[in-house]
Amino acid sequence: MKKQIALVTGDGSGPEMMAQATRIVTHAARRDGIEIEFVNTPMGWNAYEKFGDTTPTESMKTVMDLGLVFFGGVGDPKFDKTIGKEKPEMMPEARALLALRKDMGLLLNFRPMILMRELAHLSPLRSEFIPEEGVNMTFIRFLLEDSYFGTQDLISEVPSTVSHQLGMKLKKDVTGNEALVSELAYYRRETIEKYFRAAFSYAQKMNLLLTSIDKANVMARYAYWRKIVDQVAKEFPCVSYRHQLVDSANMLLFKPEELRGVVACGNEHGDILSDGAAQMVGGMGLMHSSAVNPDTMQAMFESGAGTAPTLAGQDKANPLGRILTGAMLLRHISADNGALAIEQAVREVLREGYRTTDIAEPGCANVLGCSEIGGLVLRKIL
Ligand code: IPM
Ligand code: MG
Repeated sequence: MKKQIALVTGDGSGPEMMAQATRIVTHAARRDGIEIEFVNTPMGWNAYEKFGDTTPTESMKTVMDLGLVFFGGVGDPKFDKTIGKEKPEMMPEARALLALRKDMGLLLNFRPMILMRELAHLSPLRSEFIPEEGVNMTFIRFLLEDSYFGTQDLISEVPSTVSHQLGMKLKKDVTGNEALVSELAYYRRETIEKYFRAAFSYAQKMNLLLTSIDKANVMARYAYWRKIVDQVAKEFPCVSYRHQLVDSANMLLFKPEELRGVVACGNEHGDILSDGAAQMVGGMGLMHSSAVNPDTMQAMFESGAGTAPTLAGQDKANPLGRILTGAMLLRHISADNGALAIEQAVREVLREGYRTTDIAEPGCANVLGCSEIGGLVLRKIL
């Protein structure tokens, strides 16, 4: 079977990391009889340099038509500070990444945080804080609405006199001379319900505890969120769940035995907590993630880590997070053998002591470059 998938190699070290990830994913998919064709889809500052747009219309159309995109990350401070200042509407995080999330309706953002006990030393936590059974959390971040899309989605519903008084502006219109800038954040009932039905279903299928993160003690949208969680939970009597305030949840990242299973959090909370969790299980370079529309099953596979712009062109960035993200892509298209092969290969390479600079322990003798470590993973699945 042939499968076309849009590919955004991205900015910074994105192309180097994605070169490894795509060759590994292509080979691994053959284990399930799938021949993947990646369709090059330029987005990001690299696309601006060639086409004058960080999200060319043609690229957006390709992604929407194919419904699946392997995304190498966009953004680079070098351009943010130059063209980005002149043309803030071209900033690729909003123009490409957030636009894709919104247009594809990617409500569920899965971010698995896994650390085997035998690799406990990859964590900055002292080894005695890593549970015997290792760390296994799945963050499911609510990827729409909240403050990321609030102003844009709701500004037309607020009278202009009010929005002016409140200093409400789209980011591209902020000049830096404002006396006050405010943002709208919101959650819609039907979206929260849909999100929690999916999160509870996942917890039920995997037999996991579900922890819902909020700030219900001071924020109205989270008090509402909590109410909806309790309602949806009644549909899933077999799933154990609890509520956890976001500040104390952050503390629990330092005591991972107390935070396990599904961690369901709002857009902004999920963004913040998942970086901390990724660091706790070894580092951002290992972070992997998928974003899914639960109705259409359209999906984006984006590691969630940055583009490592300072390492660009040096063959030093860590491709393992992108490679593991590729395993999530394969699982999504039912290439389970390939997905498993990738996960095992990455784990073995780490177990054998190979590292990239970002995750190397002091004095580590086996520090490899991006293509070398990618090559090791590839060899294990051939
Ligand atoms: C992530 C990233 C993005 C986000 C940025 C690049 C807009 O940090 O995927 O976590 O905030 O969602
Ligand atoms: Mg983030």
